[in-house]
Amino acid sequence: MSEHAATTLPSGRRAIKAVIPAAGLATRFLPATKAVPKELLPVVDRPVLQYIVEEAAAAGITDVLLITGRGKTSMVDHFDRQPYLESRLEEKGDKERLAAVRKPSQLADIYTCRQHEPLGLGHAVGCAEAHVGDEPFAVLLGDEFVDLADPLLPAMLDLQARTGGIVLSFMEVAPEETKRYGIASVIDPEPEVADIGEVVRVTGLVEKPSQEDAPSNLAVLGRYVLPGAIFQAIKSTGPGSGGEIQLTDAMAMLLDQGTPVHGIVYRGTRYDTGMPLGYLQAVVQIASQREDLGEAFTSWLRNFVGTRT
Ligand code: UTP
Repeated sequence: MSEHAATTLPSGRRAIKAVIPAAGLATRFLPATKAVPKELLPVVDRPVLQYIVEEAAAAGITDVLLITGRGKTSMVDHFDRQPYLESRLEEKGDKERLAAVRKPSQLADIYTCRQHEPLGLGHAVGCAEAHVGDEPFAVLLGDEFVDLADPLLPAMLDLQARTGGIVLSFMEVAPEETKRYGIASVIDPEPEVADIGEVVRVTGLVEKPSQEDAPSNLAVLGRYVLPGAIFQAIKSTGPGSGGEIQLTDAMAMLLDQGTPVHGIVYRGTRYDTGMPLGYLQAVVQIASQREDLGEAFTSWLRNFVGTRT
């Protein structure tokens, strides 16, 4: 049996490790992200990265590896204990804030690894090899998350445990948007529907195609469950779109070698905080849903919008 076949056999067990690549330059959010990592921008009162780790923890992930870069160490501090701050809150009897401050350190075991140069998402994922080994693992991009009421990752982890291959998730985008995403060609849905959307079999992947070249309007979301064989594929992948080592190209290589690739067409709410418009939409939607803020905020928002139209 080849090494490749051995690493993509279904294990029947869900992956328990996740990798969060967060070493990019975040150019779409400059100058805010010159000194502050975009992963730490607050959505109401929690940084984006906390929503992502909460999403992973809610799916049963217990081990999270953050891929960090220069100027990003504050991300790690967020998941550490803060004894001085905690004792001050304890003295004041502020139980609610104390619990909120402690929560990030209780979500999962957090590890870090440096990507010395931001050479692309594929390269960033490749940095996780020593930590992950040969086991399947999840990848959650550091600037997007989904609504916990419509969880996506558990269905992806289940599917990967059954297939042993690559599991992706998709959202449908407008034709003129395909150039911003990895786009998949798929065959008819498998005769099953995950709770959160239908399951499709992927036959091809292309990174950021023009509207004319796009094989579909199914854009790859920032959630992946990958077999350990991806690391070998990344090593064999040269620079692709934008001169970066693309995860899409490494996955396409495994697909060509016969690794099964499935995707779930996600119908829930996904927040993309990697650029100002998506970030603002996330803040407004989440603030509107908050029990403590929602009513006051939406009433103000209605008024505000009313005065603008
Ligand atoms: P993006 O495509 O959003 O790139 O990466 P970016 O550099 O963060 O942002 P822009 O496009 O310049 O505005 C998706 C995820 O992959 C990580 C990013 O941190 C982000 O979470 N990434 C990207 C890395 O960790 N390393 C890289 O070399 C590239």
